[in-house]
Amino acid sequence: MLMVDRFRKEGRKMSAVIFFFVFLFHQHQGLAVTAQEKSSIWRTVDGSAPKVIARGGFSGLFPDSGYRAYDMGATVVPKGLISWCDVKLTKDNLGICTPFLEMSNSTSIARVGLNPTTVTLQEGAALVTGYFPFKYTLKEMENVTLVQGMYMRSDKFDYYDTITDVTNVLPTLPLQSIWLSIKHDILYQRYNLSTTRFLSSAMNTVDVDYVSSPEIDFLMKIASEYGNNTKTKLIFQFIEPSSDIEPYTKQTYGSLLQNLTFVKTFASGILVPNKYILPVDSDNYLLNSTSVVSDAHDIGLEVYASGFANDNVFPYNYNYNPISEYLAYADNDDFSVEGFLTDFPATAAEAIVCFQHIKSSVVVEKTPLVISHNGASGIYPDCTDLAYKQAIDDRTDIIDCPVQVTEDGVLICMSSMNLVATTTVTTSEFANRAFTIPEVKNEIGIYSFNLTWTEIQTLKPQISNPYFNSYLLKRNPKNENSGNFVTLSDFLNLTANSDVPRIIISIQNAPILADIVGFDIIDPVIQSLKESKNDRDKILIMSENSSVLNLFREKTDYTLVYKIDELISDADKPSIKDIKEFADTVALGKQSIFPQSEMFVTSQTNVVDKFHSANISVFVYIIRNEFVSSSFDFFSDPIIEINNLVKGALVDGIITDFPGTARSYKRNRCLHKDNYNIPLLQPGFLLSFMDPGYLPPTMAPYPTLTFKDVNESPMPTLTSHAPLPSSPDQPSSSTQHLPSFLPIFVCLFIKMICLKSDQIQFK
Ligand SMILES: *[C@@H]1O[C@H](CO)[C@@H](O)[C@H](O)[C@H]1NC(C)=O
Ligand SMILES: *[C@@H]1O[C@H](CO)[C@@H](O)[C@H](O)[C@H]1NC(C)=O
Ligand SMILES: *[C@@H]1O[C@H](CO)[C@@H](O)[C@H](O)[C@H]1NC(C)=O
Ligand SMILES: *[C@@H]1O[C@H](CO)[C@@H](O)[C@H](O)[C@H]1NC(C)=O
Ligand SMILES: *[C@@H]1O[C@H](CO)[C@@H](O)[C@H](O)[C@H]1NC(C)=O
Ligand SMILES: *[C@@H]1O[C@H](CO)[C@@H](O)[C@H](O)[C@H]1NC(C)=O
Ligand SMILES: *[C@@H]1O[C@H](CO)[C@@H](O)[C@H](O)[C@H]1NC(C)=O
Ligand SMILES: *[C@@H]1O[C@H](CO)[C@@H](O)[C@H](O)[C@H]1NC(C)=O
Ligand SMILES: *[C@@H]1O[C@H](CO)[C@@H](O)[C@H](O)[C@H]1NC(C)=O
Ligand SMILES: *[C@@H]1O[C@H](CO)[C@@H](O)[C@H](O)[C@H]1NC(C)=O
Repeated sequence: MLMVDRFRKEGRKMSAVIFFFVFLFHQHQGLAVTAQEKSSIWRTVDGSAPKVIARGGFSGLFPDSGYRAYDMGATVVPKGLISWCDVKLTKDNLGICTPFLEMSNSTSIARVGLNPTTVTLQEGAALVTGYFPFKYTLKEMENVTLVQGMYMRSDKFDYYDTITDVTNVLPTLPLQSIWLSIKHDILYQRYNLSTTRFLSSAMNTVDVDYVSSPEIDFLMKIASEYGNNTKTKLIFQFIEPSSDIEPYTKQTYGSLLQNLTFVKTFASGILVPNKYILPVDSDNYLLNSTSVVSDAHDIGLEVYASGFANDNVFPYNYNYNPISEYLAYADNDDFSVEGFLTDFPATAAEAIVCFQHIKSSVVVEKTPLVISHNGASGIYPDCTDLAYKQAIDDRTDIIDCPVQVTEDGVLICMSSMNLVATTTVTTSEFANRAFTIPEVKNEIGIYSFNLTWTEIQTLKPQISNPYFNSYLLKRNPKNENSGNFVTLSDFLNLTANSDVPRIIISIQNAPILADIVGFDIIDPVIQSLKESKNDRDKILIMSENSSVLNLFREKTDYTLVYKIDELISDADKPSIKDIKEFADTVALGKQSIFPQSEMFVTSQTNVVDKFHSANISVFVYIIRNEFVSSSFDFFSDPIIEINNLVKGALVDGIITDFPGTARSYKRNRCLHKDNYNIPLLQPGFLLSFMDPGYLPPTMAPYPTLTFKDVNESPMPTLTSHAPLPSSPDQPSSSTQHLPSFLPIFVCLFIKMICLKSDQIQFK
């Protein structure tokens, strides 16, 4: 409320802000696929590429139907974009673009001194109270601003844009093509408003390419008026649920789907919720496609699909990669829809132009290197045979094994020495082996070195779900406990073939193991590597402890990767000089490159440049598909994040839970061709769209890496690696019972994510 007033008083004009928006690469060309790529086969009615329809503009980012949403859509997809306006009539029979008939969730209307009204939305229906646009004149709504009413999207762009009206404002926006969605004709008639009158004045001022409606009566009326006008296409919109009754025919939408020849008499296409085409089962996995698209295409009806957004709860089949979803509708053996109605037009354009019909013969870029993180752990439980096989199938450049040791001295691949998060140990008979390690922040866990390899094999793997506690996002539940644990020698066997270019062995806890169990992990690892059929050039070693890498440097000539496990904003000369002594590559957290606050990138550090000028390569960790894993700046799109890390920050390698996604980036059609540029964004550009009062808090910069941080005392020399002490039968004094420690542990484990989620406001 205060904010609203303040914004109003400033009286800024909508257009001012857009000048702050800078792309490093300007987008000169857009969806040029149609003409240029005749070789690609689209199974659309006329063989042309599917179109991108931006629902209320780039409404995944800015409030729906505001100036900035429309402008951002047109900027990221400069060619061929269709901008969608959900028309609502005002009391003075003008049209405004706004997504809901009741405006209080998507605008500030309840805060600008207007009173709610009571209406009946259907003949004979109950009275409802709210803010309905047809009860206010445009002038009365002049001070209403737009808000992003969607949970999970940022509210920082709220209360800025004013209402977009169709006849006066829409024509002034830089839009190529406009789609008017018109509903509620019958309702407006009862309130003595005329949709057709509105439409004919709109048609005089705006180039309308599409008009859609779920009301057949209305479409027939305008078909007789505009139907033979080749420019404007009339589209019949099917709604959900399909059991709803279409008012004119009194048939359900579901039954009209069986009567497309009738639809063809008044419309040239249909708009259907995407689930009409690719339905999902109750577990949210895809079922076989329906025949909707082929039925429509058989009689020459076009099909547009709605319901696309990068922050949707996707069917699990897509593994949170939004590109996969678009391709399922457009790049399959049977059909392609004519267009996508989406809140994230950048991603739809990318899918259509850059990722369509990629043949397996396409040459793959050398950079970035794709490095798995616990195998393909986004799809299968960490470090299982299945996660590794998936990583191999995905043609990952470097497959990782984080080495841990069991009580009987077997080296295994396991994402952590603490088994709690990625195995079923807490529900096993070994649950009472919980143990605290003061050296690891007093973390209570059940550790691999307290169980024998035989005991560990009685457990099941547990898929990691980094975004479940905060966001309820689950990975592939069908594979929740699939796969088998692997030993280091299984891993070396699995990867000792030409399908695996390189492997990386990550050694996390060598000093702690030496301390607590008196086990030297380094010599046995070197021994296993020497015995395996993987040759020396193929092997990388990663550790966050320089003393570990120094030992490897003394004893082997493997490529060494120094993982910098805290976030930094800079690295001083002595630290870099020291790193150069024991490592060829560093691995940096992504916020050490693009620091962020409340999920907005604030700047770009020069850490990558500094390492590069010392001839040290840079890997970045951890890249994930889930939209909550990256900042809003990358449009909730894992490919855009990767593009910015690779082309904007010049990283050499991507450490990821989803190697298949990163690999697909390296084969996309837009890397060299000038047909479409995947957005490359000025770091921090979104801050320029915010009112100063809405800026995320300025974070103290992360520390500078210094010599002191890097230099470690040498590893203690262990005289022998005698068998590990066997675990006592009686729980030791430090043993705790699971029910009390688990929640604490989980909270420690997801601390970063907890912080993030607190910053996202529910509305
Ligand atoms: C508006 O938001 C309220 C509270 O979040 C919710 O209960 C209501 O259903 C929403 N209304 C519409 C029209 O989305
Ligand atoms: C809109 O705000 C201005 C400035 O506060 C005020 O003068 C005007 O009356 C308001 N308009 C309406 C319709 O409330
Ligand atoms: C619509 O107009 C008719 C005839 O002029 C009138 O009787 C009716 O009350 C009006 N309805 C509304 C909702 O204004
Ligand atoms: C449109 O064309 C159809 C046949 O092609 C014709 O029957 C109809 O009268 C035409 N409508 C208008 C408004 O010209
Ligand atoms: C299709 O719908 C039209 C209009 O409601 C109706 O007249 C016709 O009988 C329907 N055809 C079929 C096969 O259901
Ligand atoms: C789905 O499609 C496959 C292959 O066409 C077919 O074998 C299977 O029976 C279909 N499943 C269902 C439930 O229709
Ligand atoms: C786990 O192993 C450590 C080191 O060998 C030992 O001190 C501790 O007692 C063991 N704890 C349990 C619960 O087995
Ligand atoms: C992997 O193990 C299998 C069975 O134990 C063995 O036949 C095969 O030779 C091994 N492969 C390599 C590359 O060591
Ligand atoms: C950088 O490293 C590569 C490979 O390690 C080496 O061939 C090259 O000479 C180095 N360049 C400089 C400037 O040190
Ligand atoms: C690195 O290893 C040394 C022992 O070699 C140990 O003293 C030091 O605490 C370790 N540092 C970290 C950050 O684990």
